[in-house]
Amino acid sequence: MGKLVVANWKMNPASEAEAKKLFAEFGAIKIQGETEAGVCPPETYLTLAAGLVKNMALGAQNVFWDDREAATGEVSPAMLKDLGVKYVITGHSERRAKLNEDDAAVWRKTAAVVQGGMTPILCVGEPLAVRQAGEDKVREFLLHQLTGDADAKISYCSIMRSVVIAYEPVWAISTSGTGMEESPEDAVKMINFIREILKNNCNTAALKVIYGGSVNADSAPGFLKQPEIDGALVGRASLNAEEFQKIIEAAA
Ligand code: PGA
Repeated sequence: MGKLVVANWKMNPASEAEAKKLFAEFGAIKIQGETEAGVCPPETYLTLAAGLVKNMALGAQNVFWDDREAATGEVSPAMLKDLGVKYVITGHSERRAKLNEDDAAVWRKTAAVVQGGMTPILCVGEPLAVRQAGEDKVREFLLHQLTGDADAKISYCSIMRSVVIAYEPVWAISTSGTGMEESPEDAVKMINFIREILKNNCNTAALKVIYGGSVNADSAPGFLKQPEIDGALVGRASLNAEEFQKIIEAAA
């Protein structure tokens, strides 16, 4: 199975002209073998990306959980699908922390993405205090994030079969300010635990379980050579096409 390497541009770049330039550079990236690459630009650049980037999947960073509800400022699953979006990030720790997205909201969005015919990249991961409290606490935290607020009306297991899960320890994200990095060995441990949760809860596997948190050209080989890690979600380092190309090469 090929690995999945996804660029999460967050709220970058600052202008359409810069986005155009970066899309052109992304469009020239070479992707070998079974590796799949994706790019999740800000919503305002999605249409532009659809025209300029043909070698990788288009992804969105957010979505609303319903196609018809009145929801000022939101974008529906149907709108994203119509633009050719394949992946939608849900549950990113920045949205959980800065926009108060709780597990229930994350679950509704995740389910809406699957029901809308796209694939969620569901982000889970513990804050620093939980990691420092020990592995059992991390396991408890991940278990809650992955099962805590699943709405019984929606078939939990059928949704979970259709997600990519991104394990992103909050403290290891480059902008978290801790300056700390996850080791590939510990990432594998947690990813195995995530797989165990899905197996126990649903007797199923996610489509893929990928790692995110300060992945760059130097650290990528360490993570991506692990057979248990199905790919990477890349923030800061994906804003440089040359570096993103190197990360993609490390996945081959
Ligand atoms: P980073 O971000 O690669 O800059 O740490 C990853 C993410 O937040 O998805």
